Amino acid sequence: MGNVILIGFMGSGKTTVGLKLSYRLRRTVLDTDREIEKEEKRTISEIFAADGEPYFRDRETACLKKLTGSANNQIISVGGGLPLREENRRLLHELGQVFYLRAKGETIYERVKNDTTRPLLQGGDPLAKIRTLLEERDPFYMAAADVVITVDDKSFEQILNEIEEHVK
Ligand code: S3P
Repeated sequence: MGNVILIGFMGSGKTTVGLKLSYRLRRTVLDTDREIEKEEKRTISEIFAADGEPYFRDRETACLKKLTGSANNQIISVGGGLPLREENRRLLHELGQVFYLRAKGETIYERVKNDTTRPLLQGGDPLAKIRTLLEERDPFYMAAADVVITVDDKSFEQILNEIEEHVK
């Protein structure tokens, strides 16, 4: 309990903000994608390719349940699709204060356009995919969030200051 949780679309900066925030607040940081990769001993891309997205989504819920019993006063960044499940949103609230790093499609595209590690954005027209997914997902992120931080055109310094102002 008492954790700081970072949610948002792929490329919104959750992992980097999580790391920087961990130095500032002197709290340890963990990322659900990395936890799942460690447990499964394979990458997210390998999990999607071999077992499909529904399997991965179940692993996310299992990971959150485990954290609910163990994580205190940490910083937790979560995969971009995790807050879409209602059960996961409830678990996030149990875990702590939820910050949504909200970004526009163009901002995200600039950050992820050369990235091959995110299976949902491979192939086709990535900007169009980002826009469609973002429109679908934003209401779920908003529903999960205690605090919304708009990240477009802001430095990490500004983003961290804003988060710090809100941390209880
Ligand atoms: C996903 C986001 C990824 C990872 C997986 C699926 C998504 O995490 O969990 O590729 O559905 O948005 P990041 O948000 O850390 O890239």
